Amino acid sequence: MKGLILSGGKGTRLRPLTFTRAKQLIPIANKPNLFYVVEDLLRSGIREIGVIISPETGAEIRQALGPQSGFDASFTFITQDEPRGLAHAVKTARGFLGQDAFVMYLGDNLLSGGIARLVEDFRSGQSDANVLLTAVDDPRQFGVAVLDEQGRVTRLVEKPKEPPSNLALVGVYLFKSVIHDVIETLKPSWRNEYEITDAIQGLIDRGLNVRSTRVHGWWKDTGKPEDLLDANRLILSQVRRQVPSEYEKADIAGEVVVEEGVNISNSLIRGPAHIARGAVLQDAYVGPYTSIGPEAQVIHSEVEYSIVFGEAKLLHLPCRLDASVIGQGVVVDGCGDGRRKHTLQLVLGDHSQVKI
Ligand code: DAU
Repeated sequence: MKGLILSGGKGTRLRPLTFTRAKQLIPIANKPNLFYVVEDLLRSGIREIGVIISPETGAEIRQALGPQSGFDASFTFITQDEPRGLAHAVKTARGFLGQDAFVMYLGDNLLSGGIARLVEDFRSGQSDANVLLTAVDDPRQFGVAVLDEQGRVTRLVEKPKEPPSNLALVGVYLFKSVIHDVIETLKPSWRNEYEITDAIQGLIDRGLNVRSTRVHGWWKDTGKPEDLLDANRLILSQVRRQVPSEYEKADIAGEVVVEEGVNISNSLIRGPAHIARGAVLQDAYVGPYTSIGPEAQVIHSEVEYSIVFGEAKLLHLPCRLDASVIGQGVVVDGCGDGRRKHTLQLVLGDHSQVKI
């Protein structure tokens, strides 16, 4: 079986973060979302992986998965000119996929349970497609499935206004090559995309065997900033303490990973947290569910339940930062002279958000 990771698209819901990087490379506990996806495929025994990329962010995805990433996989990069839908991405990858069965994995999805078991069952089973499902509170944001009593999928609708069930399609799909025949016949949807849900509906309409599997553990689509924070929390809640001996005297409580070359002085870290290489924490408080990126600085400031990207600086903040996503190289400087400020000085890029 082959893997197909979808790493194209425009990531508009994550602006401004996605003005400067592909959304699939946004770090969750200091590792790009895309890497969790690759690791899951490798654990399932899939090494031949096609990666759909966009003209805008393709180069950085290629670079991230280059030899230095150390993955024991063969990557084929496939450029999709426009994000015209998930089925269009499969069509674009037709040459790479050939007649092989494949797993399509959305590059912005995270699954705690992994897909190894699912892949094994699909390899040995008779179904033509298998989709992963999970119950959600608001199915209107997802593809939604209806099942019969045997668990066979009878109907699929993409982002319905009136959902026929609460079962959302998770971004992992297993297909035999017959899916390509259906994709050839698809018409664009109301949102002008070639929908994979319509393609799977086409399999059902032809009387083919479409199965479903419920997700074990949690699933996250990291499409919006609040989802990033939640994904960060979920990943961090699985980390185990890894603190080099030189930092054992520092005030570090609980499940915390501290990488090499971190500079900690007069600071308190309460896990779960992840502090990447080269970070500087000085007179700082880093609270639960926080990741601090490589070379980032937290000086005379407090932060919790947040993602701080590499090289960002939080300096002398007058109050604790909470539930925040601070982009690469961003500087937030409270000036810290102890006096109450009546003015603010801000240099903010397009679509930045500041809550004061
Ligand atoms: O996350 C699960 C949901 O993913 C499913 O419930 C929906 O049925 C499915 O359509 C999809 O919905 P989204 O609106 O979340 O898809 P999004 O546009 O965010 O794209 C998902 C990933 O695929 C993302 O990493 C970008 C990439 N992509 C997307 C499109 C439309 C491509 O590579 N090419 C594309 O043409």
